[in-house]
Amino acid sequence: MTELEAVYARHSVRRYQPVAVPNDKAEALIEKLAALNRESGLSLTFLRDAGDVFGRLMARAMGLASAPSAILCFGPDRPGLEEETGFYGEAAVLFAQQIGLNTCWVGMYNRKSALVIPPKGQRLTLAIAVGLGQDGGKPRNSKKTEQVSAGPDDKPAWFKKGIELSLLAPTAINQQKFLFTLREDGTVELSGQEGPFYRVDLGIVKYHFLLGAREMGASPDVITV
Ligand SMILES: Cc1cc2nc3c(=O)[nH]c(=O)nc-3n(C[C@H](O)[C@H](O)[C@H](O)COP(=O)(O)O)c2cc1C
Repeated sequence: MTELEAVYARHSVRRYQPVAVPNDKAEALIEKLAALNRESGLSLTFLRDAGDVFGRLMARAMGLASAPSAILCFGPDRPGLEEETGFYGEAAVLFAQQIGLNTCWVGMYNRKSALVIPPKGQRLTLAIAVGLGQDGGKPRNSKKTEQVSAGPDDKPAWFKKGIELSLLAPTAINQQKFLFTLREDGTVELSGQEGPFYRVDLGIVKYHFLLGAREMGASPDVITV
């Protein structure tokens, strides 16, 4: 499965099969996380046994306690960490989908049970549930193109594809509080509205948008404001 196909196939999965992530998939994911960490300076960490990370009441109620594994998103405590976490974490989520794993970003997890010592100067932002889903999840409601984009009427194909893929991106409580504006100089402005984890959402939708633009042969500058 290509990364683009993974965008269309991915849905948040909250109920998992009671089996461990197979060795070959775990190894591939660990390798991918290492590459993303080298590029970003983050420390996305695969926790083979998620233990009680998703045991918190809310997460349990959502079924997430069944997730066998987790990715813990550590990163340097600096401005922009949330957005970077979204951007690179989503790269990991789509990779997981490509190799046949299911995922769910989780903001409401059990921090105390994430029994991994954070690398020095780094902090834990989010967790991502990982495993073999009982199913692949299902499509949900989405905002419309006009609600998340602005600019001239005749927008180029790469911008439209970017918007299409951004609407397929996961956002906290499906809030989709983002707006891509095509500026006259051809750059793209990305803004968000206050909401839980909305800065993480911005990184996630930016990753999807750029994937769509690249698919159409463009590599625009996307500037988050
Ligand atoms: C930053 C972030 C935090 C999230 N936190 C939770 C969570 O704590 N519990 C949960 O069940 N889902 C959580 N989700 C999953 C969203 O509810 C889900 O992405 C959204 O409803 C859209 O559905 P989809 O991912 O299937 O497209 C989170 C998603 C994101 C991006």
